[in-house]
Amino acid sequence: MTVKTVALASDHGGIELRKLIADYLEDQGIAYQEFGPKTAESVDYPNLAFTVSEKVATREVERGILICGTGIGMSIAANKVKGIRCALVGDTFSAHATREHNDTNVLALGARVTGPGLALDIVDIWLNTDYEGGRHANRLGQITDYEDQHC
Ligand code: RB5
Repeated sequence: MTVKTVALASDHGGIELRKLIADYLEDQGIAYQEFGPKTAESVDYPNLAFTVSEKVATREVERGILICGTGIGMSIAANKVKGIRCALVGDTFSAHATREHNDTNVLALGARVTGPGLALDIVDIWLNTDYEGGRHANRLGQITDYEDQHC
């Protein structure tokens, strides 16, 4: 399945990587909405994570990409939104696996941890890898059931 729409955000720690990813999306002809500071001014990441995650959860866009210094804060916040499966990824094996096994709909990256070349490879793999379903569907169903009952 080709991804056609993405919401993208960063805090001040991820501005440069956000710009590189925006250029990549532009080159690929993928429509994107971009959130986050234009300058290095300090901003809090939770609301940015919620904004992007809500757009994914309501299916306004197909996928979300979030960047902060470590990717940790963004991923924690994103996973609070019902229906979001966000993975913090720093290697290409996990980029494949988290799509094939976890059907993640939001990707978090740590701009102070993962260099730009690797980060762009991760984005490319993550956007172009399909969910496998099968044995993984039952496991994801258990997470959805928990959300339905408790969230
Ligand atoms: C901001 O200094 C930093 O805390 C943020 O970018 C992120 O790493 C949080 O998890």
